[in-house]
Amino acid sequence: MKIQILNGPNLNRLATREEKFYGKEDFELILTWLVENFPEHEILYFQSNIEGEIIDRIQALPEENIEGLVINPGAYSHYSIAIRDAIEALPLPVIEVHLSNIYSREPFRQVSVISPVVMGVISGLGKESYRLAIDYFKHTVKKKIGFKS
Ligand code: DQA
Repeated sequence: MKIQILNGPNLNRLATREEKFYGKEDFELILTWLVENFPEHEILYFQSNIEGEIIDRIQALPEENIEGLVINPGAYSHYSIAIRDAIEALPLPVIEVHLSNIYSREPFRQVSVISPVVMGVISGLGKESYRLAIDYFKHTVKKKIGFKS
């Protein structure tokens, strides 16, 4: 299975950000761990600090036979209607992940404009948030269109 991991702004700065929320490891280490956990999958990785680049990447996914998207939109989770619209138009299953538990943090982080248009959300489990999302895709391959009621 071909899975895209997409990280938004500042997730290229893990290991230098608040450790209590984001841990000690940078994403390169986390990615290596994920690839080791899923040797049978093709895991693609993209990170950008730029909203338009994230949208361009999302729009390109259907042409690349990608079967699932695991996205951590970072701070864009809380206000990017443009990323939400790109996800809503995507005919693929999407899982939103967060390293920290956004519901235990500041009020502005407790709202994700992305969550209503994804299949599910995993928040607060550190790097396990990503592993569990990929594991879900491994066991449950469904088209987003078929999944929506
Ligand atoms: C985050 C939570 C966001 O509120 C924050 O802006 C991030 C990371 C997380 O993974 O916990 O950059 O998405």
